[in-house]
Amino acid sequence: MKVLYVSSEALPYMASGGLGDVAGSLPQALRKRLIGCRVVMPLYDTIKQELKDTITFITSISVPVAWRRQYCGIFQAKHKGVIYYFIDNQYYFKRDTIYGHFDDAERFTFFSRAVLEILPYIDFKPDIIHCNDWQSALTPVFYTTMYAKDPWYQGIKTVFTIHNIQYQGTYGMDLIGDVVGLKDEDAHILEYDGDVNFMKGAIECADMVSTVSPSYANEILDPWYSHGLDTILRQRQWKLCGILNGIDVENYNPETDQFIFDNFDVDHYVGGKKYNKKNLQEQMGLPVRADVPLIGIVSRLVSHKGLDLIKGIFDEFLSTTDVQVAILGSGDWQYENYFNELKARYPSKIAARIGFVPELARQIYAGADLFLMPSKSEPCGLSQMVALRYGTIPIVRETGGLHDSITDSGDGKGNGFTFKTYNAHDMLDAIKRGIEAYYNKDHWNELIVRAMECDNSWGKSANEYIKMYRNLLK
Ligand code: GLC
Repeated sequence: MKVLYVSSEALPYMASGGLGDVAGSLPQALRKRLIGCRVVMPLYDTIKQELKDTITFITSISVPVAWRRQYCGIFQAKHKGVIYYFIDNQYYFKRDTIYGHFDDAERFTFFSRAVLEILPYIDFKPDIIHCNDWQSALTPVFYTTMYAKDPWYQGIKTVFTIHNIQYQGTYGMDLIGDVVGLKDEDAHILEYDGDVNFMKGAIECADMVSTVSPSYANEILDPWYSHGLDTILRQRQWKLCGILNGIDVENYNPETDQFIFDNFDVDHYVGGKKYNKKNLQEQMGLPVRADVPLIGIVSRLVSHKGLDLIKGIFDEFLSTTDVQVAILGSGDWQYENYFNELKARYPSKIAARIGFVPELARQIYAGADLFLMPSKSEPCGLSQMVALRYGTIPIVRETGGLHDSITDSGDGKGNGFTFKTYNAHDMLDAIKRGIEAYYNKDHWNELIVRAMECDNSWGKSANEYIKMYRNLLK
């Protein structure tokens, strides 16, 4: 079986969020299970030079973008056994950021079309084309409307994975003729609520639609989560499924992680966790104290990550509790300001670093006692799994992938602390239970071991993807 994995970002070349992590590790896991999987992504100008140096030119073709024909260079590289193809066009991809341009619709229309056009020129004819998020959502649409009847292309199956339903690729209807280039009679495929909606097109055309956790697959059938797509998803529910992501357990490994202050593993973690905590406190300018619970937060600072819950009660919480909080993230200025203000008022309790510093993220995963992730919605979430691996106990809201990976330890079996309703005081209650558990050292150590022993490697997920692919090819 051959799978072409289509993504607008993939590690090690490029990542702006969780999609880059997934596209950087699922293909390797599939390959280890003897599935031929190759990745295709844009050749961004901002890929690091040392990686660029490993990328070689194969050939160039031209790709239609409605009435235009655009140059398309095809490049290739190999990383950890996986072959990556790169789509080159400097007009579209020589930019200083990968998203956020006025012509993103056209840039990723080109990319999605190029994925199909390059197939005869690479020595890899896929049985399955697996697309991800709105940036490659048009590939299944182009396949269905323009390629499926062509004898060379016939029989290929398409899969579309939703990593976050909030970003759908919605534009004005004029895009259909001018950029996408669909015939009038096919325009309805992309139309949703009077707009062009790339994700809706993929939901309609892909043979299978998946999302990144079973709970999220259920939640997006509900208008509270669906950002308007629940009706179409309910109509297509027969082809919707949820497969929980894994994490790259080699990359996130407290035994070998170069960026943390001391390495440790599940059999010898007490000293290592202590040393990491002490150094994290120093690094973040918090009083060095071994006896106070330290809560870590690594997050985009936006409301759907649950920041409004934090804003609702943190003043009350900090003023009445002996606790420390270490925050790393960037996002909406209102939250950035809020944490800076809190820091000024409670300098011995809270430390915030605005920005994204990957090493510091790892130091927080390793050095904190508890990890707070109260998301309003969370398709999968990777941080809670990384926290577990580093022996830091997650406090999460029961939603999406958080619900599927964290269970409350109230019964002496779970791996974290959870709350259900999106309510600040319910969150506070879970935090307080976490702090109480921290002071009960025997139970706390058992909890750390259970957390570190959780297996969130890609194996299980890869097997489920393979099952899905096999069903499609039957
Ligand atoms: C998106 C989601 C996140 C998920 C990631 C990878 O970033 O918001 O929950 O873990 O994609 O699938």
